[in-house]
Amino acid sequence: MKGAANSKPIPPFFDKFSIKEALAEARISLENISDSPALDAELLLANCLKKNQTYLHTWPEIILNTAQQECFKKHLEKRLNDYPVAYLLGEQAFWTLDLIVTPDVLIPRPETELLVETALNKISHIKQPRILDLGTGSGAIALAIASERPDALLIACDSSNAVLKVARQNAIRNKLDNRIEFIQSNWFANIQADQQQSFDLIVSNPPYISPDDPHLSQTIRHEPRTALAAENNGMADIEIIIKNSITYLKPKSYLIIEHGYDQAKLSQQLFLQNNYINIESYKDLNKIQRITLGCSL
Ligand SMILES: C[S@@+](CC[C@H](N)C(=O)[O-])C[C@H]1O[C@@H](n2cnc3c(N)ncnc32)[C@H](O)[C@@H]1O
Repeated sequence: MKGAANSKPIPPFFDKFSIKEALAEARISLENISDSPALDAELLLANCLKKNQTYLHTWPEIILNTAQQECFKKHLEKRLNDYPVAYLLGEQAFWTLDLIVTPDVLIPRPETELLVETALNKISHIKQPRILDLGTGSGAIALAIASERPDALLIACDSSNAVLKVARQNAIRNKLDNRIEFIQSNWFANIQADQQQSFDLIVSNPPYISPDDPHLSQTIRHEPRTALAAENNGMADIEIIIKNSITYLKPKSYLIIEHGYDQAKLSQQLFLQNNYINIESYKDLNKIQRITLGCSL
């Protein structure tokens, strides 16, 4: 496993360090902690230079000034301690959107695009669909759906006000704030009773990692634990969501949840026990069963 424990020291920085030299040294330092050391180095240096990656390749001989070197060194120190590139840059691409990310929110993952794709498919025949996103985080799922369906109306909830602040900023940044209502809620606690049987679709990527999973104290330790870990071997929040969503869905409407690599069977059982039909699990690009869905009667 890659991680800070195996990291190499940061290279010494000299007065006359060129872009090319800085990138080469940084790549070597990052090899043991990152699956993409060259890309990480480029993104971090481009950020310090306030330029894009093309600039780095166009002007490899340019010498870094002191402020640029200091910035790059600070970024590398943090990255060598497993701090994610997305937090250092303050943004992450998801679907077709550029999202602001802070350490308050989970960094949206490419696997979650499967959930978005499936959601869009399930509402393709519905006009002005009403959608609920539970545990919205950066707003990734809700915003991606809203960007593809200009007629959709969404409610996005999260238990954390700090998280919702970031999600709201992302909605404004992507000019989607007029169609998404953000609500602070512990799952369904603050979703009004008159919203029962009112959603055409409910989506969620809840916390689903077992509290004793060693990754929580290793590579993903800088991301919020409240976004990642759930009791009962990671199934506690999935269970609450599956049990309660059925009350809030219109008839013949879907709940889609993302889950861990070994949670598809358990999720299917919960869907079955709670009277959903058309229960299916789909694999992500890594051939891992990543989402499970079920339909209300
Ligand atoms: C795995 S993250 C998903 C974030 C985002 N939807 C995504 O896919 O990138 C789970 C989110 O659920 C939120 N959450 C955790 N417990 C919650 C609860 N009891 N009620 C509502 N949201 C909760 C966390 O704050 C976090 O933002």
